[in-house]
Amino acid sequence: MANIVAILNPKGGAGKTTLALHLSRALKDDGSVLLVDTDPQGSARDWAEQGSGDSFPVVGVDRAGALKSTINQISDGYKWVVIDGAAKLEEITAHSVSIADLVIIPIQPSPLDLWACQSLVSQIKQRQIITDGIPTAAFQVSRAKKGTSLAKEVRAAVSEYELPLLDGTIHDRTIFAKALSDGFTSLDTDPNGVASLEIRHMAKQIIEGFK
Ligand SMILES: Nc1ncnc2c1ncn2[C@@H]1O[C@H](COP(=O)(O)OP(=O)(O)O)[C@@H](O)[C@H]1O
Ligand SMILES: [Mg+2]
Repeated sequence: MANIVAILNPKGGAGKTTLALHLSRALKDDGSVLLVDTDPQGSARDWAEQGSGDSFPVVGVDRAGALKSTINQISDGYKWVVIDGAAKLEEITAHSVSIADLVIIPIQPSPLDLWACQSLVSQIKQRQIITDGIPTAAFQVSRAKKGTSLAKEVRAAVSEYELPLLDGTIHDRTIFAKALSDGFTSLDTDPNGVASLEIRHMAKQIIEGFK
């Protein structure tokens, strides 16, 4: 059975697709990866169509009710399935929560961004109660401006949700966007650069969590 990791945040522009593509590329060094694009905008599918990276398959699922059956049908043989979440708290987000083993919530370090996650966190907790703590879930600070530390109030808000925060920060770095626009990831264009190290640090924690 594949490990299903969903990158979810109802806020558009939270960095879900950027993180999902980079994480998928990093996980590919651990085992085979399938990326499932649930956003009707299809940004991950657009990226895959450029087809220039040392890549992994990207499939689109726009119909919420088809998510589980599609993943069941096509995930055979993959070690990792990464779900790139949709904007807004669409039905498909609820379905993603219901099939994920792990939910990563990328957040920019601002209280406003954290408050926007309230209903997602409730959905996750409801399922955790029903299915014995599954999915596990964690926040990942993403798109952080260089030099900004996690403000006190952000830490307070995170701790109120009683979900862990992954170690390390994904900073706002031009290379993330630039690599994707060229059809690659930063791990392809600058494998030893700081951006790639940030992504690998995140991937390592996820891989360890499934051991
Ligand atoms: N870590 C980052 N550094 C620089 N730009 C980023 C980063 N993460 C996301 N972006 C940019 O922010 C915008 C929204 O990111 P995206 O991944 O599409 O978010 P979402 O999928 O949550 O809507 C895009 O233009 C993307 O290039
Ligand atoms: Mg997106």
